[in-house]
Amino acid sequence: MKYALITGGSRGIGKAIALRLAKQDYHVLINYQSNQQAAEETLNLIREQGGQATLMQFDVSDSEQTLTAINKWQEENKDAYIDLLVNNAGIRRDNLLVFMEQKDFQDVIRTNLFSFYNVTQPLLQPMIRHKHGRIINVASLSGIKGLPGQCNYSAAKGGLIAATKALAQEVGRKNITVNAVAPGFVKTDMVEGLDEQELKKQIPLQRFAQADEVAALVAFLASDEAAYITGECISINGGLYT
Ligand SMILES: NC(=O)c1ccc[n+]([C@@H]2O[C@H](COP(=O)([O-])OP(=O)(O)OC[C@H]3O[C@@H](n4cnc5c(N)ncnc54)[C@H](OP(=O)(O)O)[C@@H]3O)[C@@H](O)[C@H]2O)c1
Repeated sequence: MKYALITGGSRGIGKAIALRLAKQDYHVLINYQSNQQAAEETLNLIREQGGQATLMQFDVSDSEQTLTAINKWQEENKDAYIDLLVNNAGIRRDNLLVFMEQKDFQDVIRTNLFSFYNVTQPLLQPMIRHKHGRIINVASLSGIKGLPGQCNYSAAKGGLIAATKALAQEVGRKNITVNAVAPGFVKTDMVEGLDEQELKKQIPLQRFAQADEVAALVAFLASDEAAYITGECISINGGLYT
């Protein structure tokens, strides 16, 4: 049995990734922070579809909580290891920098970037020992081109893309691949409040993505077919570059 940990796997893009990977015979570890009801719904959905999943509640921005949860899982599953990690949990706290509170800058960097360290670091040794691993980071178009009102989020996602490229070079020889995906607008709770009708006019494909379209790309990067792709950041944005 192969294990996949999906941070923020309870809602939105992470949920779509969890559902797909569970169909591909992974035992899915669904991390979430606080919305237990959503997490249980995702867990039940996977089980109804014949898949295997376990909930793992921890705050990815908190290194101690994260390490405790991962160590507890490893203790309870001594012969297993997490072969696939999807760093997906994220938040946004948009504002023009001139009005942005320091806390909103820090919270976004902690949740979207420090989490990469908190979750990935303790999972590397087992992947190295097993000479196999896949790490996929969910970045954003914002981290490639920068978006106004998102200095915090753009900085975090840009950092995540750079970390993806650096780590890929560190662990390639251990048969571990590290890639990122960079979605544009995806229909999830995160984009609630945005003017979809107006924004989609700027997108060549004239619509927001479905979460499952991003999940399909993540599932491909996790597959054996993608074994020679590493250090890449793949855009999935309907053509929205400028
Ligand atoms: N939606 C878009 O248009 C879009 C575009 C580009 C990139 N992205 C990126 O895609 C990823 C997923 O976004 P989404 O749209 O699916 O978001 P979402 O619908 O708001 O779901 C966020 C998920 O992350 C979890 N989460 C948030 N903070 C957490 C923390 N500190 N610790 C653990 N879990 C935490 C949430 O758990 P709880 O329910 O417990 O809070 C939830 O499962 C994010 O990294 C986001 O930046 C999204």
